[in-house]
Amino acid sequence: MATMRGEEAAAERDSVTMSEPTPDWMKPDPEQIGVDLRTDVPHSARIYDYILGGKDNFPPDRAAGDLSLAGWPGVRTSMQQNRYFMNRAVRYLAEKAGIRQFLDVGTGIPTAPNLHDVVQEVAPESRVVYVDNDPIVLAHARALLTSSPEGRTVYVDADLTDPESILSSPEFTDTLDLTQPVALSVIAVVQFIPDEVAYDVVRRLMDRLPSGSFLALSTATGDIGDGIHRAAAAYREQGIFVALRDKAAVETFFDGYELVDPGVTLTNDWHPDEKALGVPHGDSAMYAGVARKP
Ligand SMILES: C[S@@+](CC[C@H](N)C(=O)[O-])C[C@H]1O[C@@H](n2cnc3c(N)ncnc32)[C@H](O)[C@@H]1O
Repeated sequence: MATMRGEEAAAERDSVTMSEPTPDWMKPDPEQIGVDLRTDVPHSARIYDYILGGKDNFPPDRAAGDLSLAGWPGVRTSMQQNRYFMNRAVRYLAEKAGIRQFLDVGTGIPTAPNLHDVVQEVAPESRVVYVDNDPIVLAHARALLTSSPEGRTVYVDADLTDPESILSSPEFTDTLDLTQPVALSVIAVVQFIPDEVAYDVVRRLMDRLPSGSFLALSTATGDIGDGIHRAAAAYREQGIFVALRDKAAVETFFDGYELVDPGVTLTNDWHPDEKALGVPHGDSAMYAGVARKP
């Protein structure tokens, strides 16, 4: 494939609408499914959806998103590049590492392409367990995250801070075969969890997975400039905890595992394609990595 020139790649990046609006007829009816969406308070999944151009958000989410963007407009590029990293990382795991089972914790509101779209395009038999703790994600996931006929896609309403609730769920135990490798993806989630909990819960999930499994993780960093600190402050003002970690702190999540080259990098520097190349340093404030459990 011909490599795009810098300006063309930048034009394509800028024109991408990451989050495809959910058609009204596909939107779940919260009353019917009996979940409390807590639309009165901002939530990270819906702020993310708003900043990416999605439609599944409410006034407090939009207000929080606007405050964050006012603090640093680069938040949008960071989130787009994070989503692109997720796509590349899971494609790598399916294509190059032969992984056919995925556990995605902190899935977010469906945004095309979703994880299962990418991996089932490579291998239709792939099985995906999605986990999130936001009821609106649950509602949309049930409606939209539909598997290929050969594979399987299930959804667990659970919290990363309670790994046992994930590991003991029937969706997890019925879907994933723990004699075979699993890729755990924790993409743009641990910034919402303090160190004293975050390292432990990721490790406990990885501990349950067999040798040959992988961890793909991304999270926010304060290393690249002041803007992200202002954006994080806007989240905190809305009552949402945000941790900004330096590179060494992100590498700690991978301790004991074999990092895939080039190790932990800014999201756009990890196996970059046309959408990632040429993103100016300082425009993406998230570190990412992929590693194999020996
Ligand atoms: C910024 S979004 C990232 C979505 C997706 N992983 C991506 O990278 O595009 C963070 C997601 O993590 C979820 N989340 C935050 N804290 C969580 C927790 N403790 N347990 C499970 N999900 C959580 C939010 O509900 C939201 O959907």
